[in-house]
Amino acid sequence: MPNGRIVAGALAPHPPHLIYAENPPQNEPTAECGWETLRWGYERLRADIDKRDVDVLVVHSPHWQTYVGTHLLGVPKFDSLSVDPIFPNLFRYHYEMNVDVELAEAIHDEAVSEGLEMKMMRNPDFRVDYGTIVCCHLTRPQWDLPIVSISSNRSESYYGVEVMQEMATALGKATRRAVEQSGKKAALLCSSSLSHRHFTTEAEIPEDMSREHITSHALYLWDMQLLEMVRKGQTRQMVDVMPEFITQAKSEMDAGSFAWLMSALDYPTEPGEVYAYGTVIGTGNAVVGWFPEGVAVS
Ligand SMILES: [Fe+2]
Repeated sequence: MPNGRIVAGALAPHPPHLIYAENPPQNEPTAECGWETLRWGYERLRADIDKRDVDVLVVHSPHWQTYVGTHLLGVPKFDSLSVDPIFPNLFRYHYEMNVDVELAEAIHDEAVSEGLEMKMMRNPDFRVDYGTIVCCHLTRPQWDLPIVSISSNRSESYYGVEVMQEMATALGKATRRAVEQSGKKAALLCSSSLSHRHFTTEAEIPEDMSREHITSHALYLWDMQLLEMVRKGQTRQMVDVMPEFITQAKSEMDAGSFAWLMSALDYPTEPGEVYAYGTVIGTGNAVVGWFPEGVAVS
């Protein structure tokens, strides 16, 4: 019998600044430093995921936006150059990735059975979005695992936040079933910031941390309220408050990544591990891990 399971879930934000500050060989621009709290938090998340002998990363990205149905990468290998459209000065990243097409197809089929409109993306020249690339790099910089990348259906824009939540919840259930039947151990990544109001000008030195802080106290309060819920294991309440959070905090969780992750994890009641909280151009970002089989690994 297949014994596939989700062994880790993570809130894994994707500011390209974090890769820029880390100076990996794939990225052309170089930095002196920057955003250490978040980067060191990511290092601890990596170590905890590494202990779990993961077979595949499954990421849901706000920056692959599809309006008719939800799409999944359906080509075994991609390599190209990814340039951030807003920050080309920070992110010109040469990527190479392998895709677990078999698991992607299984998620596709399970989601169809949930009544969702789905499509496999078969174009070998497709440019993979930076939400997927940055999130996967920061979680697993060695790129030694295949990934599954799921687009965000913009039902929040077309219909409303409740429709988006309902569809993301169905997609989460489908993802869970597909992982279970695959026999693989998966880590699921919600590629998203928390509050998302950002500054519109950049410091002369982008990594000048004297310029970095949250854009407003109101957004800080929202972020802390969400993280308190994480720390208390109140994940259903988090999903319930999501419509208000999305509106008030301009959160990119309007893409459904968080509702998808919580549904797939079946709403953990154990506290999530908050590795870090920090701001990037004023947006609130947290690195958080959930481990369905317990935090300690024997
Ligand atoms: Fe983003």
